[in-house]
Amino acid sequence: MTHDIVIRGAKAVLEEGIRIVDIATDGERIAAITDAGAAPSGHREIKADGLVALPGLIDMHSHHREPGFSHKEDLGAIGRQCAAGGVTTSVAMPNVSPPPTTAKNLDDMLELYRERSMVDYNVNASGVELDEIPKLAERGILAFKIFMVVDTGRSYPHMPGIGLHKHGELYERMKAVKATGLPLMIHPHDQALMDAIEREYWDRGERDFRAYARAYAHDDGVIWDTAVAVLLRLQEATGVRLHLLHTQTRRVVEMLRAAKAAGRAVSAEVNPWCFWLGNDWANIERLGSYALSYYVAPHHSEAVYAGFRDGTVDIMATDHAPHLREEKEPGWKDGWKAHTGTPSEQFYLSLLLTDVAAGKLSYERVAEATATTPAKLFGLYPRKGAIRVGADADVVLVDPAKRRTITDADVLSKCGWTPYAGRDVRGLPVYTLLRGEVILDDGALAVREGYGRQAVRADARVLTT
Ligand code: DOR
Repeated sequence: MTHDIVIRGAKAVLEEGIRIVDIATDGERIAAITDAGAAPSGHREIKADGLVALPGLIDMHSHHREPGFSHKEDLGAIGRQCAAGGVTTSVAMPNVSPPPTTAKNLDDMLELYRERSMVDYNVNASGVELDEIPKLAERGILAFKIFMVVDTGRSYPHMPGIGLHKHGELYERMKAVKATGLPLMIHPHDQALMDAIEREYWDRGERDFRAYARAYAHDDGVIWDTAVAVLLRLQEATGVRLHLLHTQTRRVVEMLRAAKAAGRAVSAEVNPWCFWLGNDWANIERLGSYALSYYVAPHHSEAVYAGFRDGTVDIMATDHAPHLREEKEPGWKDGWKAHTGTPSEQFYLSLLLTDVAAGKLSYERVAEATATTPAKLFGLYPRKGAIRVGADADVVLVDPAKRRTITDADVLSKCGWTPYAGRDVRGLPVYTLLRGEVILDDGALAVREGYGRQAVRADARVLTT
């Protein structure tokens, strides 16, 4: 018997622990995992001694920008970044135009992805339109998303129409999403409080990138903490499965820990910028709005890191948020005019692996936080999220010894820059397999348009695609 592909002698991060194995694929699935050297031959053999095999990354939070904002990013560029970065499933956020607030818009968006996506995908539909929620849930989506933030000084990325923050409105949406059985992702933001905080800065004439960074982090992160406190209470009232986005304060980690201990249906993500970018004020001085996402004071970043290590903060998702330089430049003078967010799809695995090399994280926790737990929380498991027989052959092989200094020249995003330029990383993806196809081949991109497929829940009733 000959398998399609045999990966020989990889140090594989399996659910039961780390083992040196052969991994054989047939068609789209993993056919066998054997002791090293024991698998029959493969039509293609990949020599993997010295390489670590991790489950393909599942990024539950990425701003792909299509439709509507393809000058910032498009499905081709995102597919190439995913392949290069070991990401096999990348799930889109709804701040696009037209936004997936209605079944019609979501169907069109899914059709666009079906035709063009290079990697497996889904769309976190917007949960703002009450009447549309049941219909959206029937399109095979994994989750709903609500932004509590609506931008004040710019028209993007938090445009009107996809944000709401009145408690009664949130309560109604939570009940409607609860009825679908799907999780609800929320970007926490206390808009009423922020209106007052921003006014203080503006009244003093403070508008630059520093003021913007400080306003969002004001009073030790109060806008995040009050929003999350409200959300957790409303979760308790409605029973919705709540997934908190952008974890970035100590108190949010404490609240999460308490909610989980009480058995609540709550989970949370952290984004790369919380650990490796916005936690160092020097980056903000050096890069201005190019480093914002958000400023996270070191004591907060450390608390979130501890919560991430022990699983209180369940997963890492990128919040990949590419913007053009001309959309960032205004931030030097007026932080509220710059489009906020930072790209990271291509490099976050290497940033994580650099922490593994430094002894701060284990491979097991990386696999869990980037693949297994997202798959379990959002219903993809056991089809995706782990290297196991019968699962989709979604595997990334990384060379843990390979070092590189990230540069803007490496960037595959349409935005053409990375806030991580100049960063030394250790641990690089060499091969990425998606459903048995090699999409990164010995470091060379081999992705193709249209190969991606909607990654649906095992129990989904899908009406379209
Ligand atoms: O900083 C951010 N940028 N936060 C978000 O919630 C959206 C994102 C974007 O789309 O650029």
